Order: sequence, then C-alpha cells, then structure tokens
Amino acid sequence: MENSGPPISVEKFEDGPVWTIGYLVYRKPAGEAIVIDVPMWSGEKIYRRVRELGLTVKYIVATHGHWDHTGEMRRLKDLTGARVCANVGDEWMMKDPNGMVISPPEKIEPVSIDVPLTDGVRLEFDDAHFEIVHTPGHSAGSVCLYFETEGIIFTGDTLFAGSIGRVDLPTGSMDEISTSITGRLMTLPDQVRIFPGHGPDSTIGKERIGNQFVRMMTGKV
Ligand SMILES: [Fe+2]
Repeated sequence: MENSGPPISVEKFEDGPVWTIGYLVYRKPAGEAIVIDVPMWSGEKIYRRVRELGLTVKYIVATHGHWDHTGEMRRLKDLTGARVCANVGDEWMMKDPNGMVISPPEKIEPVSIDVPLTDGVRLEFDDAHFEIVHTPGHSAGSVCLYFETEGIIFTGDTLFAGSIGRVDLPTGSMDEISTSITGRLMTLPDQVRIFPGHGPDSTIGKERIGNQFVRMMTGKV
C-alpha cells in the first residue's frame, strides 16, 4: 500500500457516564486529523488538544448512533467545521438521541450525517486512509474503521477486549453481530490492533484465542 510518512498517532479520550472512548487520529502535528466518536463531556477536551497540535479535523466518524458515542458530536462539528460521517442505518438515533430506550442523563444535541458510510468506503486525510467495514449486530448502522497499512481497526461497540457489544437494544441482532465478527473481523490478521469504544485495546489474535464470545461464535467452545 502507498501510505508513507510517520506512523499514525492515536489519542484516547475516555469520558461520559458509561466510560466511552473517543479517538483523535492524526499523522503529524499541524496536519489533518479525524475524530472517532465524541463521548459526552469530551468535546471541549478534544478540541483543546486539536488546537494545541494545530490539527485540522477533516472528519468526525460515528462508529454507531448510540448517544454515549455521539454525545458531543454536534458541539465538535460546530467547533471544527468537520464533516460528520456515519452509516444511515443509525441516523434516526443521532437525530433523536433523547428519545432512545435508555435515555441520556443530560439533553444531547441532535446531529445529522454529512458523509454516509457504506461497506468498503475509503476515506483519506493527509496521506493516510482507512476503509469502512459495515458490521451490523450491536446496531444496524455499526461500522468499524480499518487502517490496513498501520494494522489498526477501531471496532466501536462491536468487539471489545474479552467481550462483544450488547444486542438487546433497538436493531441489535445476535445473528448479525456473529456474522460481522466471524466474517469480517476474525478474517483479519492476528497482529491487527483493536481499539474499541469501551475498555482496553487488544489484538485480533488475542480475541480469537481468549474471547469466550468469539470462541463460541467460531465453534471453539
Ligand atoms: Fe453502543
């Protein structure tokens, strides 16, 4: 692949009432960046770091539409002028975050999608690029962001270290998350690093062996 230049930088912003992680991803200070999920109470903190590094945020990507991941997306969009990207399957949640089955502890500003994400879409910033992997199951519009050259995948609430996303919320499906994980994530190389929407990071190889949910899905338990 043709990516060159310094390796990618990944900074974590864990915040909000259920400890959700937003990620700031960039190649170099003063270059372009993306933000993946914007938890409640994290918008100003992420923006302060963006200013400190002199970054230009090109895209704000939602791994899915749950309010703990999109809580301050509207605010960060207003501060940076970046375009919001998500799968349209979850746009109804982003437009009505306060009407969800589990309601947020504070009112959340609705946000709409500027760039619709479908499976295989490739987005670029600076000289880096990543591909969207549509992984329904936790929600219909759940996506992962795969940086193939760097060997990194952001998995949102689809796959965690030692666990998987819940499937009991609207549009959740055990069959779909199982197909997404076995068919799209466990087909990646063992050394690919996983950055999830909650909890510590991991690798595909560690989850293949040590994640009981994955082992059940792949018939190893
Ligand atoms: Fe979620």
